[in-house]
Amino acid sequence: MNLRIPGPTPVPREVAEAGAADMINHRGPEFAEIIGRVTEGAKRVFQTSNDVLILTTSGSGGMEAAVVNHVSPGDKVLVVTIGVFGKRFLEIVQTYGGNPTELAFDFGTAADPARIDAALAADPELKAVLVTHNETSTGVTNPLKEIAEVVRKHDRLLIVDAISSLSSIPVETDAWGLDVVVSGSQKGWMVAPGLAFISVSPRAWEAQAKCTTPRFYFDLQRARSSAEKGQTPWTPAVSLYFQLDRALQILFAEGLENVYARHHRLAEKTRRGLLDLGLELFAAEGHRSDTVTAVKVPEGVDGSLITKTARTEFGTVLAGGQGSLSGKIFRFGHLGLVSDEDVDNGLRAVAQTMERLGYKTPTPA
Ligand SMILES: Cc1ncc(COP(=O)(O)O)c(C=O)c1O
Repeated sequence: MNLRIPGPTPVPREVAEAGAADMINHRGPEFAEIIGRVTEGAKRVFQTSNDVLILTTSGSGGMEAAVVNHVSPGDKVLVVTIGVFGKRFLEIVQTYGGNPTELAFDFGTAADPARIDAALAADPELKAVLVTHNETSTGVTNPLKEIAEVVRKHDRLLIVDAISSLSSIPVETDAWGLDVVVSGSQKGWMVAPGLAFISVSPRAWEAQAKCTTPRFYFDLQRARSSAEKGQTPWTPAVSLYFQLDRALQILFAEGLENVYARHHRLAEKTRRGLLDLGLELFAAEGHRSDTVTAVKVPEGVDGSLITKTARTEFGTVLAGGQGSLSGKIFRFGHLGLVSDEDVDNGLRAVAQTMERLGYKTPTPA
């Protein structure tokens, strides 16, 4: 099967095998060595000297950790939404009693830094900005560097969901001044689902110390104290740490710059291949993601049959649309362990699926 969804992504054979190693004591010296090494590796990928903590949870758990450690009940925060995952940040803030203002942009478009600038200028009480870097539900990458410049200018805390970008698309945590950044193992990291990464700047630690939201499992202060002893507060997903240790070696052997270049090249190839079929891309030009491409379901094709047909007839797992986009778009993932051959095969499967569902590729004029 060609797994072309935007996560979980294929896990390299060596990584899967590393995860099959014998269990060890998570409070012993071997684990301390591993946690030290993978934390240093993760910091390289985050391009940061901030603390990076690795939590046993999915990406949403990392988002929840970001909120419960930095947003107190009643705190006014700006939540920038461009799709389903931005809305998730909003929901988490609401769940814990924060006071969010939503700055929503149409699905398929990117956030406009000038409007974030205006929103922050208009309300000095907004303590933090929460934003999705790469909106997996629409295939849009936000201009994070520019957004960060605006947030820095207003001196607010910047909390970023970089779950489906970090390790595939450059994220310069320190250079751009990102306070809290979250990622997840099942994306570009090439590790099975179950680990979240979270970086915390000194400014964010100050906010964390004052934050009054109740928290237990996701208390980052506890995670930091344990990490100093080469441990985690709770029993970690030890096998996933083994996988991460191996996956980082593979990433660094390729070189992060080459990893980013490969993602960009294969994303371009995917976009070109889909456009050549006469299909329309959902994301606005100039903001199209290098990890996932969203495609509009063409007129006359039953969108609910696309993923099933591709999977059962043509050996390719595509993702459907989420929420209000269900049946209107489908998504093609190209992140993590992905090659020219995977993209070529995926594009062929899309063409065959469309043909099977009655779509005719327009003949060029
Ligand atoms: C941008 C983004 N945010 C959040 C999540 C949620 O992560 P998880 O499903 O690991 O909880 C995802 C997962 O697809 C994502 O792509």
